[in-house]
Amino acid sequence: MSLPHTMRAVEITAPGGPEVLNLCSRPVPEPGHGQILIEVGWAGVNRPDALQRAGSYAPPPTASPLPGLEASGRVAALGPGVTEWKVGDEVCALLPGGGYAEYVVTPAAHALPVPAGMDLREAACLPETCFTVWSNVVMRGGLKGGERFLVHGGSSGIGTTAIQIASALGARVFATAGSAEKCAACESLGAERAINYREEDFVEILRAEGGANLILDMVGGGYIPRNLRSLADDGRLVQIAFLQGPKVEVNFAEMMMRRLTITGSTLRPQSDLAKARIAAAVRANVWPMIEAGRFAPVMDSEFPLEDAAGAHARMETSEHIGKIVLKVR
Ligand SMILES: NC(=O)c1ccc[n+]([C@@H]2O[C@H](COP(=O)([O-])OP(=O)(O)OC[C@H]3O[C@@H](n4cnc5c(N)ncnc54)[C@H](OP(=O)(O)O)[C@@H]3O)[C@@H](O)[C@H]2O)c1
Repeated sequence: MSLPHTMRAVEITAPGGPEVLNLCSRPVPEPGHGQILIEVGWAGVNRPDALQRAGSYAPPPTASPLPGLEASGRVAALGPGVTEWKVGDEVCALLPGGGYAEYVVTPAAHALPVPAGMDLREAACLPETCFTVWSNVVMRGGLKGGERFLVHGGSSGIGTTAIQIASALGARVFATAGSAEKCAACESLGAERAINYREEDFVEILRAEGGANLILDMVGGGYIPRNLRSLADDGRLVQIAFLQGPKVEVNFAEMMMRRLTITGSTLRPQSDLAKARIAAAVRANVWPMIEAGRFAPVMDSEFPLEDAAGAHARMETSEHIGKIVLKVR
């Protein structure tokens, strides 16, 4: 396959609103040892991309400064030492950055085959949310069948993934969301009870059920003490973001008296090896759920690469339900 020297990409010209996303021309990157070059078909859009664009989530020093944490497409070239893929394979992959472009490099171990029967558009939406949900809900949070699981932001890309995976594991799923339409979507995906947080108190509802065994939270702020009150004895709180801020006053006596666990993680700064282990776990556990029809990404909308600003503006309305994607070619 002959490769071009340059490609279309979207850069962040300065920290700011969606208008700072600019179509540009960049050299096609070369895959290093253990890496593959992907000819990108579709790129997933995630809230961390918007945070990076706004200047509040810097990429790791070794990552591409271009936004984009996941993509699907075809393998276009192999770096030295790569044996598990061949040129032309259809893959979706977690990326250190650079997904908003016609070509991107990533460690070969962070790519997964496109699930049978799924198109590239949907496959682009899998890596960031599946890696995040599996690693935090199952590997870190230890969710088991029969447990009560609460996810905040239930209609988000992360939330719609968490509801389906937790349901497939046999958990009793509760979700919060900000409108009746979003709550209906959460229940259609498998939540036993969706809670419109503008009208109802999730603390009361979970306590009436005996408390949540596990909470996945992206809101933080005032939700932190309320989450602790919502947990059952021995419950676990996993924090993956702080949309309402990371600082709050908390009485830790509750944690000690009721043996609560507070933990959390972010995916991007973890080592290549840690992400490869998550990839293997996702492939072994989530891919069969997809192929059995128990989980599919919820698609909100698509935008052409050159309108990445429109995609970010849509995300920041928070009206979307599920995933937003960029059509790259
Ligand atoms: N730790 C990690 O490794 C990791 C990886 C990926 C993503 N994340 C985080 O997970 C979260 C979800 O990501 P995503 O890509 O799925 O995003 P998304 O689809 O944009 O979802 C965010 C949702 O959170 C809800 N929300 C609640 N409080 C909010 C507030 N103060 N500001 C904005 N939204 C608020 C909104 O729905 P309502 O109408 O219900 O409020 C919104 O739809 C983001 O915070 C992201 O940074 C973390």
